[in-house]
Amino acid sequence: MSKPERRPYRWPSHLKKQASKLWYGCDYNPDQWPEEVWDEDIRLMNQAGVNVVALAVFSWSRIEPSEGVFDFDWLDRIIAKLGKAGIGVNLASATASPPAWLTQSHPEILWKDERGDTVWPGARQHWRPTSPVFRTYALKLCKAMAEHYKDNPYVVAWHVGNEYGCHNRFDYSDDAMRAFQRWCKHRYGTIDAVNEAWGTSFWAQRLNDFSQILPPRYIGEGNFQNPGRLLDFERFSSDALKEFFMAERDTLAKITPDIPLTTNFMVSSEGFIMDYDDWGPQVDFVSNDHYFMPGESHLDELTYSSGLVDSIARRKPWWLMEHSTSAVNWRPINFRKEPGQLVRDALAHLSLGADAICYFQWRQSQSGAEKFHSAMVPHAGEDSQVFRDVCELGNDLVGFSDAGLAGTVLDKSPVAVVLDYESEWASKHSSVPSKNVSHGTEPLDWYRALLDLGIRADVVPVRSDWDTYPLVVLPSLYLLSRENSERLHDYVAKGGKVIVTYLSGISDAHDRIWLGGYPGSIRDLLGIKIEEFAPMDQHVEGGMDHLDLTNGTVAHDWADVIASISDDTRILARYQADSWTGMDGIPALTLHDWKQGKAAYLGCRLGREGLKKTLPELLKALKVEGLQEADEARGDVLRVERVSEDGRNRFVFLFNRSHHQVQVDREGSVLAASLAWEDTDAKTATLDVNGVLVEKVVTRRH
Ligand code: GLA
Ligand code: GLA
Repeated sequence: MSKPERRPYRWPSHLKKQASKLWYGCDYNPDQWPEEVWDEDIRLMNQAGVNVVALAVFSWSRIEPSEGVFDFDWLDRIIAKLGKAGIGVNLASATASPPAWLTQSHPEILWKDERGDTVWPGARQHWRPTSPVFRTYALKLCKAMAEHYKDNPYVVAWHVGNEYGCHNRFDYSDDAMRAFQRWCKHRYGTIDAVNEAWGTSFWAQRLNDFSQILPPRYIGEGNFQNPGRLLDFERFSSDALKEFFMAERDTLAKITPDIPLTTNFMVSSEGFIMDYDDWGPQVDFVSNDHYFMPGESHLDELTYSSGLVDSIARRKPWWLMEHSTSAVNWRPINFRKEPGQLVRDALAHLSLGADAICYFQWRQSQSGAEKFHSAMVPHAGEDSQVFRDVCELGNDLVGFSDAGLAGTVLDKSPVAVVLDYESEWASKHSSVPSKNVSHGTEPLDWYRALLDLGIRADVVPVRSDWDTYPLVVLPSLYLLSRENSERLHDYVAKGGKVIVTYLSGISDAHDRIWLGGYPGSIRDLLGIKIEEFAPMDQHVEGGMDHLDLTNGTVAHDWADVIASISDDTRILARYQADSWTGMDGIPALTLHDWKQGKAAYLGCRLGREGLKKTLPELLKALKVEGLQEADEARGDVLRVERVSEDGRNRFVFLFNRSHHQVQVDREGSVLAASLAWEDTDAKTATLDVNGVLVEKVVTRRH
């Protein structure tokens, strides 16, 4: 399908009174509180340096209390108060949670699960994106909102919907069925093309007509869905929500063409909900919600996700729409943030290209499902550590703005780790060689192993410009379309260096296997041929559960049986195993010089530890400039840089990744230090656990 045109990048303009060029704020739900609290809210917002709030995200039942009856008075009052206090409004389309009167009169807007059971009201997002009835009501609300607020000077942006697909990602209703049929018709043109793509000669699934296409509804336990149809249903479901978003967006934009629009994505290392890289072109500026993972991966996972957001935004400033000051409410165990992490996390997002730092939410709810979710003003009130940290952060942001950080961009890394939403969808299928592996976990392992060696990689979607990097990692990129196979050939032919791993290039864009030995479409450039897979598992008595490699690392879960290699392929590591396994001596890591470039192949899952041990030698062999001194001693500190367009101003962010104090060399003038201090010699600084130091380096003209 042709590439969608990207909407021109537009960033919300600041109010006249606002000095800071970075946005700082939160979701604000004044409708959950009596009006007496509002003035207190604004006083505290001013104290904290808040200059923007997302408003009315879940306010449909307040704004339209019964069909066609609109009440904007309360919203007008709070917007006026906020605006006068110098706080801009990122106004929601307010459509995220339909009111009871609507679901009562039109239960046909409720979505259905795969067994056809109705998903009832009681929470939020209980609507189906393909319902023409719901669309009519939602667009009527968008129109009313836009008409009412079109001349309001305090509305700086539209917040369209909210986290599309968080709860209503897959709908199996008849509306969805009809829309899926239309989607297939649009994508394939003829039913024969669908039959071909889905391989329907298998198990008598041949379709005579588009009307025979069903969503992948319940098929009973222990049975297996057609993988082509499942993959297309994932694509369709992302598209159905995207189209719904676009309808809302266009309704608003028609009336308020000058107000930039966004919707909050949910990009994280686990977030394969939507194909966000496909959504990216549809917003004026990208925004993201990110919630930390408790434990050891906290900072790494956060910067990985933000790096991906920055790539989805094609390196234009983006908006952190939500994160938490401390605990969330929706994990089984909701860890609080450790001392220093509130400030550190926000600065980490900032370092990776965010020009807006916002939280869910302003004031911690007293009732409702999220009453245990942290906020900027906690239940304890303003006399609390959380609120003091919130104020410290607000102060830091003003300093960064004064120093000219806004509008600078993330410095490009020499390494791209490639991510592909569709590869994760396809490799997660129920009928695969091993459920222990899929694309999704691999990019983060690579990212972390590289960080352990002091290398911050960019996380780059497969549609983007990975072929402009000196080194590319394709980690378990299961689907490799013809187009991407060709791109990879061109890249290596022209001198590119690539590391490809197991489970890559198995299938084409329809999840049809590339034949002739794996990975069928790129075998020539890798100089290998895989004949079988050798998955492993810890829980099968007497079965193979690991493989030792000659480089001292250990593989788990997966190994390829590389049955032959071309004459000019070098073997960098082999398996060492008992002969009964059939794996002894089989190549595990290979390197092939191909045309001007080099292509390495790793045929097993080494995990972060194994990758960390393997990478120094591998990087030397690949001869990538600037990466050959990779070294574990550098892994304690994460260094991220943002640069101004003319390259003269650099903002260096140094984060302590370890669980002990670290010392760093000073690079410029200190803009902020949290759990960090300059040493007396002025040449170094010390970072405590969770500490961060931000410096500005100005390059003088010669
Ligand atoms: C059963 C079925 C076959 C095939 C095999 C796969 O035996 O009869 O059609 O699905 O399982 O193991
Ligand atoms: C999501 C939603 C918010 C809130 C938070 C809680 O990000 O958009 O409304 O529910 O989760 O973490």
